Amino acid sequence: MKTVKIENLIEGLREISDADFTCDDVYQFLADNPVEVDTISKYFHWSEKFYTRNLIYKDARFELMALCWDKGQVSRIHNHADQMCWMTVPVGKLRGQNFQAVETDESKGFCMLQEKEQFDLSDCLAAKVELEEPIHQILNLPEFNRRAVSLHIYSKPFDKCLSYCRETNKFAEVPLFYTSIGGKLCKNVEL
Ligand code: SIN
Repeated sequence: MKTVKIENLIEGLREISDADFTCDDVYQFLADNPVEVDTISKYFHWSEKFYTRNLIYKDARFELMALCWDKGQVSRIHNHADQMCWMTVPVGKLRGQNFQAVETDESKGFCMLQEKEQFDLSDCLAAKVELEEPIHQILNLPEFNRRAVSLHIYSKPFDKCLSYCRETNKFAEVPLFYTSIGGKLCKNVEL
């Protein structure tokens, strides 16, 4: 598998015109350009308490992050509020679980979810979040039995999302934080 350095991946993304910066075209670009793991390892931070969100690059159009998942760590069930999102998994393996909202009452923050399809990603396979079905969860299942790293591209960059609780059928907007920026831990972050 021919891999590219992270600098070249970023350069290639920056060169895509606004008209071509679509779900399908960026997905194809990511699929065609598997990243060289050595060139992203300086962004890796691990915590036993939570998966970490490590910013590699950001401009007005997109942000690129490395998320580090210890064994068994999972994201909240969430959506990305009308943003385009892509991911690829250069280290380890991750499960994606999509959900459909079957009943929603926004005035009460109520949303009942139903599980839809699952997908597994590893070996730099790429995925995109379908705008029609944006609610999902990412899981590093205990049975995968190893750490994983995923690269995520969000366009536009965002610092909040809707988070869903299956026990209470409630949803709410929550802030999102970086663990590190450019390889350096953010202030107040304790791993
Ligand atoms: C996150 O950005 O923290 C969650 C990863 C995802 O599912 O996109």
